[in-house]
Amino acid sequence: MSEVKNVSFYRQDLLTKDLLGKEQQGKTLVIACPKQGAPELLYFGDALPKTTDLASVYLSQQAAIPQGMMDKPTPMSLIPEAGRGWLQTPAVEAIAEDRPVWAACWSLVAVDEKQSGFVIRLEDKVAQLSVTLAIGLLPSGVLRQQLTLTNQGQANITVQRLACTLPVASQFTERMGFYGRWCQEFQQERCDWQATWLQENRNGRNSQANFPAVIVGEQGFGEQQGDLVGAHLAWSGNHRLKADYTAEGHRYLQAEVLYLPGEIVLAANESISTPEFLAAHSASGLNAMSQQFHQEARHRLKLTKPRPVHLNTWEAFYFDHDMAKLKALAKAAADVGVERYILDDGWFRGRHHDKAALGDWFVDETKYPNGLLPLISYVRNDLGMEFGLWFEPEMVNPDSDLFRAHPDWALQLPQYEPALARNQLVLNLAKPEAYQYIRERLFALFTEYPIDYVKWDMNRDYTQPSGDIAPQAHAQVEALYRLLSELNQAFPAMEIESCSSGGARVDFGILNFTKRFWASDCNDALERQTIQRGFSYFLPPEVMGSHIGPDKSHTTSRIHDVAFRAGTAMLGHLGIEWNLLDANAEQKVTIANWLSHYKQYRSVLHEGNNWRLPSADGRAQTQWALSQDRTQGLAVYSQLTMPKQAQTLPVRLPNLLPDQLYRVNVLEHSPLPGHLMKALPAWWKKDLILNGASLSQVGLRLPIFDPESLVLLAIQAVPVMEKH
Ligand code: GLA
Repeated sequence: MSEVKNVSFYRQDLLTKDLLGKEQQGKTLVIACPKQGAPELLYFGDALPKTTDLASVYLSQQAAIPQGMMDKPTPMSLIPEAGRGWLQTPAVEAIAEDRPVWAACWSLVAVDEKQSGFVIRLEDKVAQLSVTLAIGLLPSGVLRQQLTLTNQGQANITVQRLACTLPVASQFTERMGFYGRWCQEFQQERCDWQATWLQENRNGRNSQANFPAVIVGEQGFGEQQGDLVGAHLAWSGNHRLKADYTAEGHRYLQAEVLYLPGEIVLAANESISTPEFLAAHSASGLNAMSQQFHQEARHRLKLTKPRPVHLNTWEAFYFDHDMAKLKALAKAAADVGVERYILDDGWFRGRHHDKAALGDWFVDETKYPNGLLPLISYVRNDLGMEFGLWFEPEMVNPDSDLFRAHPDWALQLPQYEPALARNQLVLNLAKPEAYQYIRERLFALFTEYPIDYVKWDMNRDYTQPSGDIAPQAHAQVEALYRLLSELNQAFPAMEIESCSSGGARVDFGILNFTKRFWASDCNDALERQTIQRGFSYFLPPEVMGSHIGPDKSHTTSRIHDVAFRAGTAMLGHLGIEWNLLDANAEQKVTIANWLSHYKQYRSVLHEGNNWRLPSADGRAQTQWALSQDRTQGLAVYSQLTMPKQAQTLPVRLPNLLPDQLYRVNVLEHSPLPGHLMKALPAWWKKDLILNGASLSQVGLRLPIFDPESLVLLAIQAVPVMEKH
């Protein structure tokens, strides 16, 4: 630690492994802490040499003072301070009757250096507030920060805003984000970042419209090139995400929970923390950014077994539960290689359509006169699959015994008409009686039945999130996290999936308690290609539920061949969402083959690194997965729309060991179109062996495919003995 002019410097270095597994300097983080004022991010990026003189770097960043501006420039800090002249959104905004807490000016109290980074404590004696910034590089390379505000005065304060701020390079002038709707999650948009960009989510859950992530970088950044930073707020509720710049040229990202008016009140000595704000830097494009987030998710997930193949009953039967048909479907599923069978919506008392019964978590006696055990033991004991069950615990239908008994347990303002969505209201989990009721029902069912997996659904936005007068959307999310945490502790072997009308609640906040996301209710493979690509920027394939739907998609009416559907589902955590009783014998054989490929390669997809590789004309895309030891790879080339050229352009598969020989195997493909192609590529029917450099730098020419087709290629290192 060096010190200059009342500023101390704190440096954290992260080691990574190079191509051959040798440890090398990976990332460097440098924080400058002035005695008066908030800490500044001096550097976050690829490693700086150990010899770097931090004081000189700091000096080099002290810019000229322009005419027409403040006499002393306001620093771009990690906790921008309104009282010190920051003219944009400050990190802290609060109201108190006895002191000016809205304009806090921070002084350094202490910096604790930990292995995971720094805990920087600051206070303002006038405002009687303290803040603590925990900031550091995680082993994945991801930068984590979290801000905590404490009321050190006697009078209450109302907190209006508590935001994490991440300064980024001034040359980052392009921004990428996500938008969407039901069945169209994770759509990607790009534009010049020349104005303030703001995403405000007031849906209560993240919603399909507002995935809490943003990427900024230098002009033209792409999958494999460009300096950039991707950032994500690990929170499943209301949020504000901003990308902004100042007249001086500072650029920064800001992320916070959006507090509704008066929602957060702190009494003396009470604190509130932001969620984690996570960011990854890459000097070589989006894939390297995603790979850091994927590693980070993996550290948190701690999966102990391969992701089993699912069959989910929803699109097969909807609410029409019939024991004979459910068992027949389970048998058909086990026959093709399914490993986990999930009974979706429709199993609980009075749930025959989506208008009633949410909240009445008792098994429906008309559909299941002997309870769920006959089905569960058939699935588990006779067929050897795991059993999963659908719930939507945070909800209540006005037409339910629960609501009739406790109308005041719903989140709604009694003074106004409630706004229904899918005929339901949100249950007020911050109300202890409501929380206890749901907790008791879940614990009772998980104790009575051997349930391996829960599909935890949540199908509406919050409106009027209050039980009385004050809003409490924040408390609702906290109560949800508490409930999930209690369940995980009590039933550690049970896995929970986060579903929300498809992918309306996907984030690292809920990932702390869940193991899978249902990415979208849309199982149309063409739509899924875009949805899944968007999903993959921040989350790894093993948490992305991706199912083989029926021939004709239920949400778009498009028809696709099994290869395109199965190959697309293979890119995530594969499952089936299709009434296999309608599939013919040939289709079942095809599915069984795809399932065995998935089982053979899931460790490559789920433990290796993944790359998105767009074609030059943007009409095809390849997902490339390579095992950590670089001996096994899997490529799924998908022709989405008509190619611009008559021939397929070479597909280059990065990161293979340059001198190592690899065999290329075509495992599966969509029908080969004779109407587009007189002859297949010369290598197609041969035993093709190439070294890694050729595959990575020259590439492979594929056949011509119809739009909405794909091919599955396996790349396997050839043992030395076998070399030609
Ligand atoms: C939501 C989910 C679906 C299904 C239905 C059941 O829409 O996203 O997968 O579980 O609810 O009602």
